[in-house]
Amino acid sequence: MTMRLSKRVQHVSLSANAAAKSRATALRETGRDILDLTTGEPDFDTPEHIKQAAYAAIAGGATKYTPTPGVKALRVAVQGKLGRENQLDYPLQSIVIANGAKQIIFNAFAATLDDGDEVLIPTPYWPSFPDSVRINGGEPVFIECGLAQGCKLTPQKLEQHIGERTRWLVLNSPGNPSGAVYSEAELQGLADVLRRHPHVLILLDELYEHIRFDGLPPQSLLNVAPDLQSRCLLVGGVSKTYAMTGWRIGFGAGPQTLTEAMTVVQSQSTSGASSVGQAAALAALEGGLAFLPGQVAAYQQRRDALVSVLRQVEGLEVLEPQGGFFVFVRCAGLLGLRRPDGQRLTSDGDVVAYLLEEGVAGVAGSAYGLSPWFRLSIATATDTVVEAAKRIAHACAQLRAEP
Ligand SMILES: Cc1ncc(COP(=O)(O)O)c(C=O)c1O
Repeated sequence: MTMRLSKRVQHVSLSANAAAKSRATALRETGRDILDLTTGEPDFDTPEHIKQAAYAAIAGGATKYTPTPGVKALRVAVQGKLGRENQLDYPLQSIVIANGAKQIIFNAFAATLDDGDEVLIPTPYWPSFPDSVRINGGEPVFIECGLAQGCKLTPQKLEQHIGERTRWLVLNSPGNPSGAVYSEAELQGLADVLRRHPHVLILLDELYEHIRFDGLPPQSLLNVAPDLQSRCLLVGGVSKTYAMTGWRIGFGAGPQTLTEAMTVVQSQSTSGASSVGQAAALAALEGGLAFLPGQVAAYQQRRDALVSVLRQVEGLEVLEPQGGFFVFVRCAGLLGLRRPDGQRLTSDGDVVAYLLEEGVAGVAGSAYGLSPWFRLSIATATDTVVEAAKRIAHACAQLRAEP
């Protein structure tokens, strides 16, 4: 029997990162020396005090179902964190916990989108934004934000794309894959446009909020334009800041009607997030950020190592990330060149395939809606990043222009 799948599911795909990672792993298994720069996952381990809290939770009997919007103590801790770190005031009912920031985003779209509703997504984007929209019946509307604008949305472009069917604007800062961070002035400009269109909700993905470089201060649309708070869903989590990707805990803060509807959606999919994961997240939020500056310094050191080498490579243009886990590289200057085996590079997919053969795994920009670019992760050991930069430079130097 041929399995008939829903139209919605046919329009979404498995994560491009996962595909790139499995190609790298498959090559490694054949004995090849491959440096894997595909994944946005800290190479650091979850801090010990967080693990201890999880052991204690299990020993203390926190092994039962949890309330769907999250364990109260964790919601209170998120409320405290938003006040302390972000100067934002939310009532408890506005705060929900889910299985990762990804589920918060999914719940929000499921709770608000009707067929054909539009969601504005600046490109390059994290691929789950459009796929989460599609699976919930909406239509992603992409707004290209290239190198000239630092991969950031401008007020003019935003204004051009807002229509009657626009339900949401997605804003991700620091961005994946671009590493772009919006400044206060840039956020002001966007806020001015958004004020003119009160039917548009704003999804603020600030999962990488603490991974900022060069001493950049935190910036959020919510601080710049507090009058928009009733239209914003703030998305955060513990995955990146606390190296807790596997614990699957994220949170959202937004208008109560929305968070309640998101809770209804979650109650019919996964129910409340894991009891042990929430205990660990509580310890994370209550335990402070003393461990973080050392990690951010390491990410920044890797960024500098990669950017300084790649900037010297003919054919590449590097957008220096101001935060997050990635360096995003434009490779238009390599297209048309020939590899040593005679094959011509015609797309960022070809460039990534060539680099993989030369021992470095990255992800093609097409996965993030912007070509020809590729993404390299700096959430990878420093030695690996340094060696990867050398290999990429060497690989590019082997390319030839002859017909
Ligand atoms: C921009 C962005 N938002 C959300 C997520 C999902 O995070 P979580 O692990 O909390 O589901 C990711 C993970 O890569 C991300 O890059």
